[in-house]
Amino acid sequence: MQLVSLLVLAPSLPFAAAETVLGAFIFHRHGDRTTKSYNPVTLTPLGAEQVFTSGSWYRDNYISADAPSKINGVSSDLAVLSQLSITSTIDNVLQNSAQVFLQGLYPPAGSLAIQKLANGSSINTPFNGYQYIPVNAVTSPTSGKGAEETNGWLQAGSGCTKAIASSNSYFQSAEYLATLDSTKDFYQSLLPVYNATFPSPNATFKNAYTIYDFVHVSTVHNTTSAIPSHDLLTPSTLHQLQTLADTHEYNLAYNASSPIRAIAGSVLAAQIISALNTTLSAPASKKSAQKLTTQFGAYGTFMAFFGLANAPAASKDFYGVVDYASSMVFELVTNASLPTSGAVNPADVSVRFLFANGSASAANVPQAYPLFGRTETTLKWDVFVQEMEKFAIGTTAVWCDACGNTDGICSPASLGIATADDNESGSSDGGVSRPVAGVIGAVVAIAVILAVQGLVMLVGGLRLAKKETVALARKASHDGVSVSTEGRV
Ligand SMILES: *[C@@H]1O[C@H](CO)[C@@H](O)[C@H](O)[C@H]1NC(C)=O
Ligand SMILES: *[C@@H]1O[C@H](CO)[C@@H](O)[C@H](O)[C@H]1NC(C)=O
Ligand SMILES: *[C@@H]1O[C@H](CO)[C@@H](O)[C@H](O)[C@H]1NC(C)=O
Ligand SMILES: *[C@@H]1O[C@H](CO)[C@@H](O)[C@H](O)[C@H]1NC(C)=O
Ligand SMILES: *[C@@H]1O[C@H](CO)[C@@H](O)[C@H](O)[C@H]1NC(C)=O
Ligand SMILES: *[C@@H]1O[C@H](CO)[C@@H](O)[C@H](O)[C@H]1NC(C)=O
Ligand SMILES: *[C@@H]1O[C@H](CO)[C@@H](O)[C@H](O)[C@H]1NC(C)=O
Ligand SMILES: *[C@@H]1O[C@H](CO)[C@@H](O)[C@H](O)[C@H]1NC(C)=O
Ligand SMILES: *[C@@H]1O[C@H](CO)[C@@H](O)[C@H](O)[C@H]1NC(C)=O
Repeated sequence: MQLVSLLVLAPSLPFAAAETVLGAFIFHRHGDRTTKSYNPVTLTPLGAEQVFTSGSWYRDNYISADAPSKINGVSSDLAVLSQLSITSTIDNVLQNSAQVFLQGLYPPAGSLAIQKLANGSSINTPFNGYQYIPVNAVTSPTSGKGAEETNGWLQAGSGCTKAIASSNSYFQSAEYLATLDSTKDFYQSLLPVYNATFPSPNATFKNAYTIYDFVHVSTVHNTTSAIPSHDLLTPSTLHQLQTLADTHEYNLAYNASSPIRAIAGSVLAAQIISALNTTLSAPASKKSAQKLTTQFGAYGTFMAFFGLANAPAASKDFYGVVDYASSMVFELVTNASLPTSGAVNPADVSVRFLFANGSASAANVPQAYPLFGRTETTLKWDVFVQEMEKFAIGTTAVWCDACGNTDGICSPASLGIATADDNESGSSDGGVSRPVAGVIGAVVAIAVILAVQGLVMLVGGLRLAKKETVALARKASHDGVSVSTEGRV
């Protein structure tokens, strides 16, 4: 009997025996939120529950003392900050999601967090040993994506001139125009549901995502009696709204003949390689080494990455907008025994990609998929890097060049390239290899968002400082309109 159940269990535990997880990179979407149609957009209690569920599952899988895929050397109960790198784009919904996720990953430690003071008395942190893990802002030229949840326009925050132009060109494509035309009656037929928010001229495929978002959020949060003509929202109508939104957003995020459109996925790819490589390069026995990197970001970034990595070759489902609280994971794994000193030999290390649509949980375990049009789900580290480097963009100089941006962080002075008419300000670091980082990028991106929205003119006395704080960028993404600080670009 015992043996039979073991045999039955075995196939579901294929990697349990010899494999060691050295580290992981998780990219995560926020949980349920209010509609983008009305500001402010906020994470709902349901959304908090969704990301908490996911955080708890990742704890059970990677962190707990008895976790089946426990990450080598990771602390089980008391978070060791150097082992973790948690980032989010600048956005209330995403940053709040990251915080709630961490509550699941490292819940209050109870008596384990108690400290004894010099005078002998004991003290614990509030909320029974609550743990404080910082969520840092992603600081890259694309971090203006902070406006993701307050903006219907997917590419608004990329700040990348050529990517914005590329996405915009979708609206001239024959494919778009044909769908716009063929769905005209469909969107108009639903006016009784949403005409107070989307008047007739706006009720078209052009607004496929924001219309879907408004209706979808309403079906989650409004009783049917609070939705006018709710009987029009049949399952098949809702499905059609969703798949049209999927088509709209996928095409804005990725186009095979215009890879710059997927700039968000290119930047993410470089961040994944860099984070995993940080883990890989550290001695396997080093307790303080970075082991788990988690980034919260937009569904558009998932789509851009899926397109670049050819995930749809594994499943057509990757064409769709991922559900709330979805996550993708890149596990760094080895079957070699770990050296007592020094790093694991990269030749012995592989990477596995997994994806959970919606909250990861025991009922929705992340599944491994092959990427890059291959068949293997576990790829040798050097092969993985080679594939990712075909589209990864990891330095400011390369980003500026690819985007065709020439001012702000992309000005010759900022890049440290001396030019004949810029002799004084040419800097000394020769900086073509500066990493994609810097809060100035966020500010530049916000300026671009404002420009895209045609709002710059409305903002009296817009001032952008050359060196800015993330706090400013965060504020700017809150209200979308008013940016005011001292200094000028
Ligand atoms: C011990 O020190 C802490 C911090 O200074 C103080 O709050 C507490 O009252 C002290 N306890 C005793 C028993 O003196
Ligand atoms: C993809 O890009 C190509 C070349 O720029 C363009 O011809 C085509 O219309 C684009 N397709 C979509 C759906 O944007
Ligand atoms: C929306 O449609 C309903 C029913 O067709 C109509 O009674 C109402 O006046 C319309 N409201 C607006 C703001 O157009
Ligand atoms: C309708 O669309 C126009 C043009 O995009 C926009 O300016 C306007 O704000 C929209 N109206 C509503 C009520 O969403
Ligand atoms: C759902 O409720 C919200 C808030 O009460 C309202 O603004 C929205 O219009 C409702 N949705 C629909 C489709 O009626
Ligand atoms: C990983 O890091 C090492 C040491 O810093 C470096 O030599 C190597 O080029 C990096 N590999 C990749 C793929 O970035
Ligand atoms: C995730 O689920 C949504 C349905 O809510 C679907 O449209 C999408 O294709 C799914 N994505 C993947 C990768 O399974
Ligand atoms: C480790 O070995 C197992 C069993 O042979 C295999 O399924 C898994 O892919 C291997 N992992 C790596 C990283 O090679
Ligand atoms: C910058 O100026 C110095 C002296 O003023 C001159 O020697 C040098 O060639 C100039 N460099 C460039 C790039 O023009």
